[in-house]
Amino acid sequence: MTDYTFEGYRDYIEEHITDFIPDVDHKSITLYESMKYSIMAGGKRIRPVLLLAACDFCGGKIEDALPYACALEYIHTYSLIHDDLPFMDDDDLRRGIPTNHKVYGEATATLAGDGLLNTAFETMYADILYYLDDMDAMKRRIRAAYEIAKGAGIRGMIAGQIADMESENHVGSEEMLCYVHRNKTAALLVAAVRAGAMIGGADTEMLTNLTEYAESLGLAFQICDDILDVEGNEEMMGKKTGMDSDRGKLTYPSIFGLDESKEKLKELTESALDAIGVYYDNAEVFSKLAKDLAVRGN
Ligand code: IPE
Ligand code: IPE
Ligand code: MG
Ligand code: MG
Ligand code: MG
Repeated sequence: MTDYTFEGYRDYIEEHITDFIPDVDHKSITLYESMKYSIMAGGKRIRPVLLLAACDFCGGKIEDALPYACALEYIHTYSLIHDDLPFMDDDDLRRGIPTNHKVYGEATATLAGDGLLNTAFETMYADILYYLDDMDAMKRRIRAAYEIAKGAGIRGMIAGQIADMESENHVGSEEMLCYVHRNKTAALLVAAVRAGAMIGGADTEMLTNLTEYAESLGLAFQICDDILDVEGNEEMMGKKTGMDSDRGKLTYPSIFGLDESKEKLKELTESALDAIGVYYDNAEVFSKLAKDLAVRGN
């Protein structure tokens, strides 16, 4: 890889995204196809790009971070497949194509999500096993895997998903709204930068700054998603819009209205930029991502 821009990292991910999905017995071919259907549908690949960029930024080799970046995208994709199921958000379109359950049915879609989640852990463990005789390299990888497990787990993304569902059609507080967004979305973005930073050998200061950056970026990212659910369109989003108000979701626009949501988005992107301000021009991938988000949601 020679192009260390967002697009360069994304292309690298795109090229390798299925590398860690093992071949399966022909009898399980439908499962395999349904997993690949969603993982190969594209998407912005923000989480794996952040992971690679953080590793690179902290002095590591991006090849070392690749298994963890792909594992994280498998987890994110599983969360989307499950999020779209009829008994969750009940969506028909994702990444510009019909949702997994619309093509393969609900049972297979559930298993495709399970399959991607478990493949993520298999991928990370396989990499850790490879470094059993190199204590320092192994420790970094175990720490990275832990960050991903925690961010995706019941104190992270899954906690956010249950809170999101339980808040439907309730009068929500700002505190609850922040809890939902921090967990369902920011937790995986935080995991991305922390895992990448750990593989890259970050010092404490870098880790703190990048974590702060991702916490703000993560919240901003979900506010932007909420705004675009109101103002965006199907073509630009690759998913149906207007769904949040139909379902009575707790979102920034539902509590604060669009103008204040946009203000909040701006503030958070500024905070994200401040957190990495000490690095000036060296953190361009991170700063560009934050700036682009502010523009996208405006
Ligand atoms: C969608 O995530 C779910 C949210 C957390 C808003 P993305 O907007 O990153 O979806 P893809 O990966 O680009 O499809
Ligand atoms: C989903 O949030 C976050 C996940 C953990 C999948 P949303 O429900 O707002 O995501 P979209 O709008 O369906 O992509
Ligand atoms: Mg949802
Ligand atoms: Mg949804
Ligand atoms: Mg949404």
